[in-house]
Amino acid sequence: MSQPYYITTPIYYVNDRPHIGHCYTTTVADVAARFARLMGRDTFLLTGTDEHAEKVVKTAQDRGLTPLQWADKNAAEFVKAFDLMGIQADDFMRTSQPRHIARASAYIKKLMDSGDIYLGDYVGWFDASQEEYLTETVAKEHDYKSPVTGKPLEKRTEKNYFFRLSKYESALLQAIEKGAKGEPGGYRILPDARRNEVLGRLKQGLNDVPVSRAVKEGDADWGILMPGDPNHRVYVWIEALCNYLSAVDNEREPSTAQAEGGPRRKYWPPAVHVMAKDILWFHAVVWPAMLMALGEELPAVVYAHAYFVAEGRKMSKSLGNFIEIDQLRAYADKFSVDAVRWYLATQGPLGANDADFAHAKFIEVYNADLANGIGNCASRVGNMIAKYFDGVVPEPAERAAQIDQKQWDALFLFPGLVKDCAPGIATQIEACGIDQALHLGASYVNAIDQFIAAHRPFSVAKEEPSAGYGPLNGFITNQQFLSTVLYHSAEAVRIASLLLFPALPNKMAELWRNWNCSPLNDPADPNSGFKAPLAELAEWGGKWSLKPGQKIDKGEALFMRADPKEPAPGQA
Ligand code: MSP
Repeated sequence: MSQPYYITTPIYYVNDRPHIGHCYTTTVADVAARFARLMGRDTFLLTGTDEHAEKVVKTAQDRGLTPLQWADKNAAEFVKAFDLMGIQADDFMRTSQPRHIARASAYIKKLMDSGDIYLGDYVGWFDASQEEYLTETVAKEHDYKSPVTGKPLEKRTEKNYFFRLSKYESALLQAIEKGAKGEPGGYRILPDARRNEVLGRLKQGLNDVPVSRAVKEGDADWGILMPGDPNHRVYVWIEALCNYLSAVDNEREPSTAQAEGGPRRKYWPPAVHVMAKDILWFHAVVWPAMLMALGEELPAVVYAHAYFVAEGRKMSKSLGNFIEIDQLRAYADKFSVDAVRWYLATQGPLGANDADFAHAKFIEVYNADLANGIGNCASRVGNMIAKYFDGVVPEPAERAAQIDQKQWDALFLFPGLVKDCAPGIATQIEACGIDQALHLGASYVNAIDQFIAAHRPFSVAKEEPSAGYGPLNGFITNQQFLSTVLYHSAEAVRIASLLLFPALPNKMAELWRNWNCSPLNDPADPNSGFKAPLAELAEWGGKWSLKPGQKIDKGEALFMRADPKEPAPGQA
């Protein structure tokens, strides 16, 4: 078995309502995880909610609930949102769960014992709305107001535990630089622009970071206590980062392994931590330093994408323009959840630049890539096989000895084109390049459309010579040419559909059912896993290829064309 693939999303603040941003990151991770499973890797996708913020206590009080009741209610909203998006998560971590509390406390204790966490004095500017301290420079720059909400910062002096981040400055620099060169012992921060920002800030020097908050009078029992000190709780960010390890650390309590579906420690270290740029510093600096202090291996990649904006404007509470779950649900109802996943995965802010969610663009992409792309291509091929071969996959002709191999390969290009798709995808998913990986599948669809346009099987069927037929004239018959063109088109559609599956699991499973070629363990269930890895599934003429003589059903159109003049779903 190849190396396990462990991928994580941030755990989202349970106080907020899920919106497109949370769905975006989780969809990116889901597409990457599905690619990894398709490659045959033992994959684990973790998402969840970050629950111990002080704000949770306040909001719960306002609503007459206990913090846990409030967290239960909202965590369920995240679970529902990710179900809607078709996310196949292997676990949903909630930091209020005893398993997390027990393990995170143990990590903190270990760091206290080693002296990496110590008790000191802290004076600083606290942004209560964000639950974080700002440095003097940042606080001053923003006129001592929260850079996010504009509310005044609080000056706080308190006894505090600190993590000795400064001690890891040079080790971090080295690990990041090694990672960028692909050397062992390092981790890669991606995209490159983000790595340079982190390096720039790191080179200005690191201070130790506070990792606790004082327990106040009448404090609700919410949050993890500092081990051995009932007067302090672990600062929520520090504890939240621990979730990535606590979720897979069931060797620590072997009795839990069964409840959690078997030993998970094998998944460590993560292949990729995915998040947006807002929280990169915690993931690219604080967390790796904590892992070094704990003696744990570092993640291979820390990937920070940019932001989704709505119709060209930054989404914010004050503008009230978040694209919420209800809106995504309306799109999913009208165009299919796969269409929403496709838009997020291919048009989202995966790189260093922000991306827009705009209705007109959604329709344009939907029509181009899905209705006129894979949808139309699959129906055309299915329809022609139904019409000319009674729905039976035709037998392709062998190259006659008199036909030059080069000429033949130039005409029937797909076996050569798809040959190395598996290693190509493997490289992309290491770096979370899901858009590139999906584009490879989409490029096959384009090539099939061009192939059909050039070889005109519909006119060959009427016994008219086609452009491609010329050089073969006299060596194969019209009928053989038609069979070959359609066999190659259909087999190429099958291979393209494998590469599109991670974004379009429901629709590609439907296509495979129609064509009787499902590689899934359960053809009715897109989450049931593959019978073989991509390298085998995509082998031309291999065990999983379409077999001449096999019946296929042309089925319904996978994606109906959308009318750009219709209003956006969910709006009158
Ligand atoms: N709880 C912390 C994370 C702790 S992880 C150990 C947190 N939560 S959050 O709810 O604010 O989620 C932030 C994350 O949500 C971003 O890093 C990103 O993954 C996602 N997004 C939130 N808004 C977004 C956009 N507008 N666009 C894209 N992703 C965004 O921070």
